[in-house]
Amino acid sequence: MALVDSIPPLSKTFSGKKIFVTGNTGFKGSWLTLWLEQLGANVYGFSNRKKTQPSMFKDLGIEKNITQFYGDIADRKSLFDALKIVKPNFVFHLAAQSIVSTSYSNPLETFKTNSLGTATLLDVMVELDFNCVAVMITSDKCYENDERVTGYREDDRLGGRDPYSASKAAAEIFLSAYIRSFFSEDLKLRIGIARAGNVIGGGDWNTNRIVVDCAKAWLHREKVSIRNPEATRPWQHVLEPLSGYLRLAQKLSESQDLHGEAFNFGPNESNVYTVNEIVSRLGKHWGHEDVTKHLELSGNKTMHESSLLSLNCEKAAEELSWLPRLEIDECLKLVADWYIQFGRNPGKLFELTLEQIKFYESKVG
Ligand SMILES: NC(=O)c1ccc[n+]([C@@H]2O[C@H](COP(=O)([O-])OP(=O)(O)OC[C@H]3O[C@@H](n4cnc5c(N)ncnc54)[C@H](O)[C@@H]3O)[C@@H](O)[C@H]2O)c1
Repeated sequence: MALVDSIPPLSKTFSGKKIFVTGNTGFKGSWLTLWLEQLGANVYGFSNRKKTQPSMFKDLGIEKNITQFYGDIADRKSLFDALKIVKPNFVFHLAAQSIVSTSYSNPLETFKTNSLGTATLLDVMVELDFNCVAVMITSDKCYENDERVTGYREDDRLGGRDPYSASKAAAEIFLSAYIRSFFSEDLKLRIGIARAGNVIGGGDWNTNRIVVDCAKAWLHREKVSIRNPEATRPWQHVLEPLSGYLRLAQKLSESQDLHGEAFNFGPNESNVYTVNEIVSRLGKHWGHEDVTKHLELSGNKTMHESSLLSLNCEKAAEELSWLPRLEIDECLKLVADWYIQFGRNPGKLFELTLEQIKFYESKVG
């Protein structure tokens, strides 16, 4: 696509800039922090102290090179104090209770973190009133899922059957209200909204995510338990939506035109596979000759899980020149390589992660 050639390098936008990343100790946040650092940015993180075990953020020593704030995203004072010190050029808001199953066991906490936490961040930014571009990360699950086969578009109805999805839809409604009430005239702050789906990549240790379940089981030479083998999902590597978030921020920094707009960042519609297919392909990259020997079907289907959710990403292609770059096997190879390295030599993971970022950048061109 010709438009892609006109995109300025990301380093031009982010080098030397102050970037505030909420949820930077999590899976996507760790990758984003490292990528921004590579681009020459000064990263300021804001997260709570809960970490997965293991933790990519901890194991790669990411905290060493950034300024880290710890606090609750829904605690206005901690957030206010941190943002008042930093007054960043860019904000990426990723902090969330990100697990659907946890949202069933802890719905109120999920609403507080995901919905009220987003409103708290906006509220602080209204009061501090500084020049900034903010990208607010919600989810593909913010759409009311009617099990349609075609991809959801940005103007489709919001909603959510489970607390996680509803908390993200609520965050979107809060965002829309804040943008229209407080940020429409005064464009010191430009906001973009990013909706991505099911992301996979090395360094994720969250529970109830199928690729993570495979990695954990296979690192211990155990069988992975598969809950919904026929469920289809749009699979994409973590670097794909992150490149979309960076591109959206870049575009917002260049003009006001996209202020308040939401964008889907998903894989090509052809990259929709069943859980079964993904496990089997991942198994091949892991070196399993017969993957069926390394999995078992679980009868445990207690929660409702949507059977299909895919995104239409034409808007991101047209307005941001953003396209997904990785074929499914390239993506699964990156994932397998990362976890295998974790098992063999975790001391080399920092380098491997940077190599994977460079590899992805080379695909973008
Ligand atoms: N990973 C996916 O497949 C996926 C898909 C769609 C959307 N998302 C969204 O992307 C974002 C990042 O996802 P992830 O997979 O990296 O999640 P993650 O669970 O790995 O990380 C969550 C981060 O938020 C922080 N956090 C959680 N509760 C907090 C609180 N109350 N106060 C302050 N910080 C808090 C955690 O410390 C961590 O840094 C989330 O908003 C998530 O909902 C993720």
